[in-house]
Formats: sequence, C-alpha cells, structure tokens
Amino acid sequence: MTTAPSISGISGISGVSSASGVSPVCGGSGAPATTLLYDYWYPARRSEALRGRKLAKAMLLGIPLVLGRKEDGRVFAMRDSCPHRGIPLSCGWFDGEELTCKYHGWAFEPVSGQCVDIPSLTPSDALDPKKIYGQAFPCEERDGYVWVYVPQPGTGRARREGLPPVPETPKFGARFRSAHLTAELPCNVDHGIIGLMDPAHGPFVHQAWWWRKRASIHEKEKHFEPIAEGFRMSAHQPSGNSAPYKLLGVYGEPITTTIDFVLPNRRYETIRCGDKWFSSLTTVTPTVANACRIDVYGAWNVFYAVPFVTAIGKFFGKRFVRQDQVTMIQQAEGLKYDPSLMLIDDADRPAKWYFALKQARLDSARTGEPMRHPMDGPTTLRWRS
Ligand code: FES
Ligand SMILES: [Fe+2]
Repeated sequence: MTTAPSISGISGISGVSSASGVSPVCGGSGAPATTLLYDYWYPARRSEALRGRKLAKAMLLGIPLVLGRKEDGRVFAMRDSCPHRGIPLSCGWFDGEELTCKYHGWAFEPVSGQCVDIPSLTPSDALDPKKIYGQAFPCEERDGYVWVYVPQPGTGRARREGLPPVPETPKFGARFRSAHLTAELPCNVDHGIIGLMDPAHGPFVHQAWWWRKRASIHEKEKHFEPIAEGFRMSAHQPSGNSAPYKLLGVYGEPITTTIDFVLPNRRYETIRCGDKWFSSLTTVTPTVANACRIDVYGAWNVFYAVPFVTAIGKFFGKRFVRQDQVTMIQQAEGLKYDPSLMLIDDADRPAKWYFALKQARLDSARTGEPMRHPMDGPTTLRWRS
C-alpha cells in the first residue's frame, strides 16, 4: 500500500483499492484539519444577503471575506482585511461604489480591490494610492449563490478572464421551481464529502417512513465511469425503496438518475422522467480547515402545478439534511480522540476515489503535470443499502 501525504489529517489512504479491500485511515489530532483545494469556485453566501449597501461576511478556506453589491448590481468579494493595518473592511462604510476603511479612511474600488484614495496624503507625497490593492476575488452569481474563485495563496490577483465556468445546477426548461438548504458541519470537508457520497448510511441515518425502512435494505449494483476531475454513477433506474422516487412513478414513464461527483466538492444529481425533471447541486465547502458547510440547491418541474410542493419539499429536504448534520456533529465528537478509521469495499469505494482524485489534483498542482485520473475505466460496484 502506498502512503499518500496527509489528507484531512487522514494519512495512509491508499487511493483506489488495497489488496484486502480495507484501507486503514488514521485520524488526525483534535478536530482534524485537511488539505484544501485552491483554484476553484466556491459558494460563499446566498445572493439575498447582498441587498442595497449592506456588507456581508463569509469564510472560505480559512479566508475571511467581505461581500457586497455595487450600485450597478455587480457583486464583489474582498479579503476582509485592510492592506494598511489589517482591520476588517467590513467594519467600514460602503456607499454603493467604494468601500472605505474605518481606521484611516482608505477607499477601495471593491471589484478590483484597487485603492482609490488615502486621505492622509498631501500633494507633496509621492505615493500613488492606485498602485495599492486589497485582495479582491472573482465573484459571480449562479442559482442564487454568490460564488467566489479562491486562487492558490501567493499567486497574486486572480483575473476573471480564463477561469473555469462558474458551477451551476443544470436545468432542462425555462419553467421550474427551486429551493435551497444549508447546514454547518463541524467536521473537515473530507468527512462532509464522503458523507455525501456514502450509500450505506441511508437506511440508518435517514430511516423514516417517508424515506425508506431498514428492512428494505437489499443488494444494489451501480455502474460508475470516470469523468473530468470526478466520476459518474451512470444513468440508472433509481432505488425502488425510496418514497420520493416512488412518487415520481405516478407519471408512468421510465425514471433515470445520474449522479456526478466533481472536484473539489460538487455532487450533481439529475432525475428525469419523460419531460419531467429534478436537478440538484450539492456542495460541501470548507469554511476553515476543520469545518465545512453543506449547501443544497434543487430545481424541478415535477409537480409544477401542485400547490405547496416547494414548502413540502423543503420540509422533507430540511429534515433529511438535518439528519446528516446531527450525525456529523456526533461523528465530530468521536473524531476528537484521534481514532483510526477505515474505508471498505465496495460501499466506500466512491470515498476512496474522492481521496485519490484529490491527491491527483494536489500532485498536479505541485508538479505542473496534467492530472492523472485514478480510475482506469468504467466499473461496477455492489453493496447493500
Ligand atoms: S487600517 Fe485601513 S486605512 Fe488604515
Ligand atoms: Fe445523508
């Protein structure tokens, strides 16, 4: 077994598989931290937090941010720290155009981060404020989230041009409803993500009359294939033992589900049934190295005409996410004491792929070589859930 550098305070992850099918995972210390992936877009806040001249704060990958919206509607994200003496810029004033520091009044154009005024300067000073920048991050809105591009630290100012597209939930028509959910998780992003792609916890954590019964556990066979920076659970007829899918059966057409996981943190799920569809994007975002936040955005045109369907969907979705959250709060309690952990085949194979993909991405960032995908081709996994 090869020993990868520590990911998530977890060392010794062997990547895709090991001879026995069991990978020991040694826990880290205290609340385990993890290696973070830079050069990606991450959701920072919901768009509605940026109304008028209000400033909002967010934390992404351990970076404090101040967010706002300019008069022309453009959103911005700056490191919440004045380049002069480090006071949070969010303590200052924003007039819809410029962000002014409360300590000595330096003013910044917040989309570029450029300093536009230093009030203490006299005409005899040679310093040109316009040569000074606070750190501004590329920032855009999709699906009602403000997405922020977080570059590798120390690589200078990231420019919008040439960046990968901003992630978005696929939609299959102009008329749809949508909802979103969020929950803070007290674990590092790796535990949040492997929880997200973990098929074996469903019947235990999400045990409820409206979801599925423990007694309904049965063997499943799913086909997976590599995709760019991730993997896909190929289109399949969804699990017959979960109630939401049974509901879709009322349309009497074949139902197919596709689930993609893509680095750094995205799980796309698309359910299609004739011209009816449900599509979601779930992200697990590291706020700091040992805590994360799960955001779920769903869009659908199924039951479009049924009143209250959004409210009912949200009610059940919330309970569902809350069950994961409670479980991870309990898990975090256990992880404090540095237990050794394991990943087993086949139920934890997606988690092994995640760690291997992450390692491949870190290696590629270090060496400058193209990223090597850890899967060699399509494969079938079997588990009971
Ligand atoms: S600390 Fe911000 S202007 Fe001095
Ligand atoms: Fe779950």
